[in-house]
Amino acid sequence: MREHVRVRVPAKVNVQLAVGGARPDGFHGLANVFLAVGLYDEVTVAPGPAGAGPLVTCTGPDADQVPLDTTNLAARAALALAGRHGLEPDVRIHIEKDIPVAGGMAGGSADGAGALLACDTLWGLGTPRDELLALCADLGSDVPFSLLGGAALGTGRGEQLTALPVGGSFHWVFAVAHEGLSTPRVFQEFDRLTAGTRVPEPAADPALLGALRDGDAPALAKALANDLQRAALSLRPSLRETLDTGTEAGALAALVSGSGPTTAFLAEDARAAGAIAGALLASGTCRTARVAEGPARGAVVLP
Ligand code: C5P
Repeated sequence: MREHVRVRVPAKVNVQLAVGGARPDGFHGLANVFLAVGLYDEVTVAPGPAGAGPLVTCTGPDADQVPLDTTNLAARAALALAGRHGLEPDVRIHIEKDIPVAGGMAGGSADGAGALLACDTLWGLGTPRDELLALCADLGSDVPFSLLGGAALGTGRGEQLTALPVGGSFHWVFAVAHEGLSTPRVFQEFDRLTAGTRVPEPAADPALLGALRDGDAPALAKALANDLQRAALSLRPSLRETLDTGTEAGALAALVSGSGPTTAFLAEDARAAGAIAGALLASGTCRTARVAEGPARGAVVLP
């Protein structure tokens, strides 16, 4: 057996997040266009003491906000994979966290997908890709995309993925807020704001898919859309100021990433991204600003 396995997993931004009405199971139907971006968590697994179950540790700037019990998706991934193969889930899981926590960038999902791939490799299971994706979907709606990476359309509750072609690299800036937002809370606010209105069936925007395919940043900027943005702004009105700051600094477009509160800014090129990040940092409207390119590769085992 290998001594340890290290997996790198990317963050995501939703370039389109179309949200339908609440389903009977409480989830919302989505047309969710994911783009993986080059901010990464690293998940390292190694055999743990017999009978101890998954033992999670975490380092990084936001490490104190990461739960270390079995609510952590990385621990749940190890339990699910071990359970499926009748193995003892005795594994040490270390998360080197660089993706903002509770930020709408799938940081927790990344750790789930990373731990699943890492444990599969550590235990020499060679679980087929389709089965890994199904296990990911059981862990959470965004987890399959963290494994896949690149760009994809997520339908259903976001877990049914179709990979999308992307014709170039896009430059992004992410403004990380001082405090996270809970995803269920943002969906609840969406329900409150849309109560009594007809919520249309979510559908992918052909213009947006074309912009991705062509690697056309100005066209992508025009098509960026997030149906959760109003709900996130309603819960955190100060995000408007962050969005305005990035736009005034030259962003082609600005939007809330997923359920927020991270805000995402599409830039023309790397130089523009640096200038936008500088303006955001100087404004004090966010905790930090990060530059990243997308698409990025999905979860990958590091040598
Ligand atoms: O799937 P995941 O566990 O990440 O979802 C977290 C929460 O976000 C759900 O419990 C639900 O409240 C909300 N959600 C939703 N519709 C989706 C995905 C998530 O309402 N399609």
